[in-house]
Amino acid sequence: MMGLSNTLLAFCLVFSFLNFSVFAIDVSFDGRAMKIDGERKIILSGAIHYPRSTPEMWPSLFQKAKDGGLNAIETYVFWNSHEPQRRQYDFSGNLDLVRFIKTIQKEGLYSVLRIGPYVCAEWNYGGFPVWLHSLPGIKMRTKNDVFMNEMANFTTLIVNMMKHEKLFASQGGPIIVAQIENEYGDIMGAFGDDGKQYVNWCAKLAQSYQVGVPWIMCQQKDAPQPMINTCNGFYCDQFYPNNNNSPKIWTENWAGWFKSWGNRDPHRTAEDVSFAVARFFQYGGTFQNYYMYHGGTNFGRTSGGPYITTSYDYDAPLDEYGNLNQPKWGHLKNLHLLLRSMEKVLTYGFSRNIDYGNMVTATKYSYAGKSICFLGNANSTNDAIINFQNTNYIVPAWSVTILSDCYKEVYNTAKVNAQTSIMVKKDNEADDEEEPYRLKWEWRDERFEHMKNGLVEGSLMSSNKLMGQKIITNDTSDYLCFNMSKSDPIWGRETKLHVKTMGHVIQAFVNGKHVGSQYALNGHYSFDFEQKIKLKLGENQLSLLSATVGLANYGANFDQIETGIHGPVQLSGRTGNVIVTQDLSSNKWIYKVGLRGEQQELYNINNFRKWKWYTNYLPTDKLFVWYKTTFKAPIGTDPVVVDLMGLGKGMAWVNGQSIGRYHVPRSFLKVDHNTLVLFEEFGGNPWNVKFQTVTVGKACGNAYEGNTLELACQGGQVISEIKFASFGEPKGACGSFKIGDCESPNALAVINKQCLGKESCSINVNELTLGPTSCKGIENRLAVEAIC
Ligand SMILES: *[C@@H]1O[C@H](CO)[C@@H](O)[C@H](O)[C@H]1NC(C)=O
Ligand SMILES: *[C@@H]1O[C@H](CO)[C@@H](O)[C@H](O)[C@H]1NC(C)=O
Ligand SMILES: *[C@@H]1O[C@H](CO)[C@@H](O)[C@H](O)[C@H]1NC(C)=O
Ligand SMILES: *[C@@H]1O[C@H](CO)[C@@H](O)[C@H](O)[C@H]1NC(C)=O
Repeated sequence: MMGLSNTLLAFCLVFSFLNFSVFAIDVSFDGRAMKIDGERKIILSGAIHYPRSTPEMWPSLFQKAKDGGLNAIETYVFWNSHEPQRRQYDFSGNLDLVRFIKTIQKEGLYSVLRIGPYVCAEWNYGGFPVWLHSLPGIKMRTKNDVFMNEMANFTTLIVNMMKHEKLFASQGGPIIVAQIENEYGDIMGAFGDDGKQYVNWCAKLAQSYQVGVPWIMCQQKDAPQPMINTCNGFYCDQFYPNNNNSPKIWTENWAGWFKSWGNRDPHRTAEDVSFAVARFFQYGGTFQNYYMYHGGTNFGRTSGGPYITTSYDYDAPLDEYGNLNQPKWGHLKNLHLLLRSMEKVLTYGFSRNIDYGNMVTATKYSYAGKSICFLGNANSTNDAIINFQNTNYIVPAWSVTILSDCYKEVYNTAKVNAQTSIMVKKDNEADDEEEPYRLKWEWRDERFEHMKNGLVEGSLMSSNKLMGQKIITNDTSDYLCFNMSKSDPIWGRETKLHVKTMGHVIQAFVNGKHVGSQYALNGHYSFDFEQKIKLKLGENQLSLLSATVGLANYGANFDQIETGIHGPVQLSGRTGNVIVTQDLSSNKWIYKVGLRGEQQELYNINNFRKWKWYTNYLPTDKLFVWYKTTFKAPIGTDPVVVDLMGLGKGMAWVNGQSIGRYHVPRSFLKVDHNTLVLFEEFGGNPWNVKFQTVTVGKACGNAYEGNTLELACQGGQVISEIKFASFGEPKGACGSFKIGDCESPNALAVINKQCLGKESCSINVNELTLGPTSCKGIENRLAVEAIC
């Protein structure tokens, strides 16, 4: 016994050493694949950005990625969050990059570190600190000493930090690949020869770090060796790297898309994503990363712009809150497991292609007596019948079939066998009062001191011209107030105020009275604001509040895109038939950065007693009001959201943490006493605001014979009812399934028995389990609608 347990102990020790990878891992590559300790590997990676979730969420996100068949997690590094002021750093909370990478390692996954430090990422100012903009002589992302010095200063800091913590694979860490710059090839034309020299400098800088793992440059056709150029896009099967010794890498498979204010929710189907992946592997790809695997939330003021929403859900396989986005997650999981099971054949195998014309192709990989075949049909309208090795296969339009041993169909990208989840929002059950959602509100006015005849407070500066908003605010606030007074304004009938602004929102006041507001959506940001106004005799005061909604993050010279009131600012009036205009642009303007409530930190829990909040006469539909309430955390583990129905534009904080507009991470909450503070800019009604949890309401399945259908609820709930079950040729879609003409009579009883009262169940879809059908010449299918 003794001997046995000693052996076990020794074994466990060795095992745990391996588990924590204290040994250096050799990462190299050839024209076929990444090589880990000399062996070619398939890398299936997913992007998860650490500031878009919380450290408490990371382990479960990684676990779900791993369960989904991934073996790597990719992230950008967010310079402006880490260095908000020059040489003042922040790596705390969800900016703890080291903790993020170490958590990836603990889950036994590899990591891909895209340092940039330009990241785009629909992130405010593309990840650049706005203070860069004020450095004399700077030109960003080109051969410019000021910029290159700042960039190198930051990338060196990050590389040294990773080295210090031994996080590169060469040191026993999980990082197997690093990236310098980002999608530069897409815009380098604008920089001429300087751009070319800059890319070469980037490559040299990266190599000088000697991190012991390969470097990549995405969308960079001319990436100098040994930088690997890689592809970003919806499809990358026809991409080939610029060198025969570089593997075919897809750094961004856009699993969905980001959302902008005023636009609809983007959606990319599970079928289309999996088609793109299968084709990439059919055509020799071996390394693929989903952008995003979990998109998450743009907390605080981090969303890019203009007009990118707080939610960065991206229609990714894990939704904004970290729930499985089904069927996308499950459909891709099945593909991942299959590809990884064929790793040797795909990375070492000999491949042969057959072109059937009409965008139909077959590819066979064989190695050491094993083989795998892909039958691809890229015709988007017509199904194909392919006679392959004397067998006929029906390959639906826009799909890829995978044949194990080049005979049996084990996967088709258009046939989804994974559960479809219909998510629901449940009202906060923690509150047991009669009307649980009548939160008790307090309020306070946002006061623009300089619009009234009070004391002028806050940081003020003045100038005789209109100045760029970024220069004045350094992006420390969305808000900038421009104030001026005019003692002899032009007179006439139909006096109008004209303001040309570069965005993103304007609110205008004349003599302290609000006269109008405007914004532009749908990809525009600059606009002309025009408003009829009334002036009085003598001195008149004009105040313009300009608000940004995320700074531009993409394009050549995106950093120079202006924001704010650029001018001209004019008055016009009619005398007789003549329209007279008067330009106010070069009057003396007084600037005030930020809201008064921001300076007072009204959202800070330590300040609640410092300022008076009113409980009577709660104002609704009033501009510029701060609201405050308390609430209990919803019971359970399901993710929490706050429904801000009834409110317009503004900001929200829970327990002092800015949540953007919606998602409230569990880790921000205490059990009993939490505070929500809202700032409402356009006027709204807080009475309908409520806290909810997001969970699976309905689990539907539509699985083909020969597969296993897994159905699962979430957050500890069980399947309470099977609303529909039919095996044979069921019709319709989830929520409207109909029984077909040749069904097995047993399906409902079998499913009831296997699934009712359980959190999850798994059903083998075949006639043995579900009873015989009388369907002829078609594949039997099982359709189920289960209520959680
Ligand atoms: C970054 O710049 C600061 C001075 O601003 C300097 O002290 C520091 O050494 C630099 N870091 C690197 C890695 O060059
Ligand atoms: C798809 O197939 C149909 C029928 O063969 C053909 O008419 C059509 O041109 C094809 N489309 C493409 C994009 O190849
Ligand atoms: C607005 O600016 C003018 C100077 O142009 C200043 O005299 C006035 O006090 C400011 N308005 C208020 C209400 O502070
Ligand atoms: C913005 O940055 C510049 C340069 O660093 C500085 O002079 C200015 O005071 C800053 N403004 C604000 C509002 O922080």
